[in-house]
Amino acid sequence: MSRGDSEGERSSRSEERYPPPDWFVETANVTDPDIGTRFEREWPDCWTNAADLLDWEQPYDEVLTAADDRLTWFPGGQVKPSVNCVDRHVSAGRKNAIALRWIGAAGERRSLTYLDLQYEVEAVAAGLRSLGVGPGDVVTLFMPNVPELPVTMLACARLGALHNVVYAGFSADELADRMASADSEYLVTCDGYYRRGSAVGQRNTADSARLRIDADVTAVLVGRLDDDPKLGRDYHGYGALRNEFAGATVEPVAREADAPLFVLYTSGTTGEPDQVTHSTGGYLSYAAWTSMAVLDIKPGDTYWCAADIGWITGHTYGVYGPLALGTTTLLHESPADHQAGGHPWASIERESVDVFYTAPTAVRSMRQRGAPPTDEHDRSSIRLLGTVGEPMDPTTWHWYREELGGGEAPVVDTWWQTETGGIVVATLPALDPMQPGTAGPGVPGISTSVVDADGDPVDGGEEGTLAVSRPWPGMCRRLAAEAREAGAEPDSPKAWQYLTGDRAVRDDDYVTLLGRDADTIETDGNAVGTAVVERIISSLNGVTEAGVVPVPEGKEVVAYVSCDRSRPDVTVLAERVRAQVAEQLSPSVCPDRIIVVPELPKTHSGKVMRRLLADVAGDRGYGDTSALRNPEVVGEIETVTREQE
Ligand code: WTA
Repeated sequence: MSRGDSEGERSSRSEERYPPPDWFVETANVTDPDIGTRFEREWPDCWTNAADLLDWEQPYDEVLTAADDRLTWFPGGQVKPSVNCVDRHVSAGRKNAIALRWIGAAGERRSLTYLDLQYEVEAVAAGLRSLGVGPGDVVTLFMPNVPELPVTMLACARLGALHNVVYAGFSADELADRMASADSEYLVTCDGYYRRGSAVGQRNTADSARLRIDADVTAVLVGRLDDDPKLGRDYHGYGALRNEFAGATVEPVAREADAPLFVLYTSGTTGEPDQVTHSTGGYLSYAAWTSMAVLDIKPGDTYWCAADIGWITGHTYGVYGPLALGTTTLLHESPADHQAGGHPWASIERESVDVFYTAPTAVRSMRQRGAPPTDEHDRSSIRLLGTVGEPMDPTTWHWYREELGGGEAPVVDTWWQTETGGIVVATLPALDPMQPGTAGPGVPGISTSVVDADGDPVDGGEEGTLAVSRPWPGMCRRLAAEAREAGAEPDSPKAWQYLTGDRAVRDDDYVTLLGRDADTIETDGNAVGTAVVERIISSLNGVTEAGVVPVPEGKEVVAYVSCDRSRPDVTVLAERVRAQVAEQLSPSVCPDRIIVVPELPKTHSGKVMRRLLADVAGDRGYGDTSALRNPEVVGEIETVTREQE
């Protein structure tokens, strides 16, 4: 049994802290206890530590400047991203090391060494170039996690073109909007793919999107369902292009550090998709640095980032970070919580995964289904576990460390956003003790504060908005531009502030995230993050996950709760929920209704869709569910909600 299984003890923020085990510290990448103060003292020059992880074609003149109305990281420097992620490992004698290992939904397994990857990237780059793709062009990639996706991303980068990856599950309208908004006249897509055991067609979606776009789109089709898909006049075949240009040499284009590397739309659970552009030098340095320092990735590792490449997590920690460090990145066609064939347990064992990085929602569904015994699926290879995307509750944290980390492996809870490019708040696993449910201090060189509505810091222990109070190399280009508009001076930390839109509280220098600013319950003139209530509820035995929403129609707070296999009695559970919230927080935020559902609605990027829960609870009609990965649960959630009214 994992520690502290008794109720209540794990739900507050005053959880004890756990030092990393000695065996971890002995081999960890970052062990200098003075790194924080050193980075503080040397800021912004401390970021040469990140830049030094890359090979530069042209050295940069300065680390950070504010000129031409924008902040620029590493001005004057030039960098070749595909050389940093591929070629340099080949020339350093690691040509036979595995760069990418892919596990298909039907159990196929493909491995590409760094030499193979270079060969593929050059062939595809030459093929794209023959179709007219050149520096500054935007190439939209509409594919799931298949090897052709990272290969094409790197091929674009080699040509100085920007990739615009669109999550493969999106509709034709969503694809068309993102292509039009990014001014993209090139599309690489696939005939289809496998999702949760079934073949899903993709080509028709791409065709419909193309009909909606004014521009003449040049398109390439990858055969995933069929090796030799019919192309017609509308598509060039990926396989044919690749074969035609196999063996080609493509001189990589050197990019200014500040030049855009890619375009990506945020996965926002509400509102319009937001375009984010990341720079070549700053982003890549930051991706490599945080992969090295926080995820502790080493060249000899097998590292599994379970995110879809359609989101920023897949970009930074599935592709660019691990490949810049020369490690083996494991790419799965199926999401990590899809357990057909023993996944993820079988993969962790068979691939001997060292570092595993996934979303709390995925860990919660694994917990709900239960873990197989370790003698059935050994996971002793795990050295470090990570989470991203949602607040992590202490109960799930303990389960994760116990069941996947043998009760010992460090767990890093990493807070960041599409806009931040890489991890901003986390622990450094060999230096900072872990505190379950709390992300930690900012990574070295990052300065955060928790502020009120006027942007002034609140006292320790009080809730507010998380602000990042100094620029960092991974910041997206819009933030770099807005910084100047706000009259910020990069060398005067107080003048610059990025309001993240997330609620947080700081205790003893550790930041606990409490959900989005919009997700709050107003009570007695105070705002309480819904995540605070959710955390208390999910500390109860039998509960795996909770989604708490204020419902203005009924002036009530509704808690949706999913349970583990013990299936507790609903009335008894409701009593326990109310008692626990009243005791640990306040009777004024006690949920009025507690509704037990099989699963919470989750987006493809692994976030609970609270907006939809509030719509159902308020009987408003919930609109479009295409952003959900489990739309099939919505009908049942609606029925159960009605029954309880
Ligand atoms: C949330 C994902 C709590 C947060 C990299 C943020 C988190 C949004 C955490 C960004 C975490 C991400 N704890 N909340 N460790 N990590 N979030 O753009 O609300 O898909 O603003 O980037 O996810 O989501 P995005």
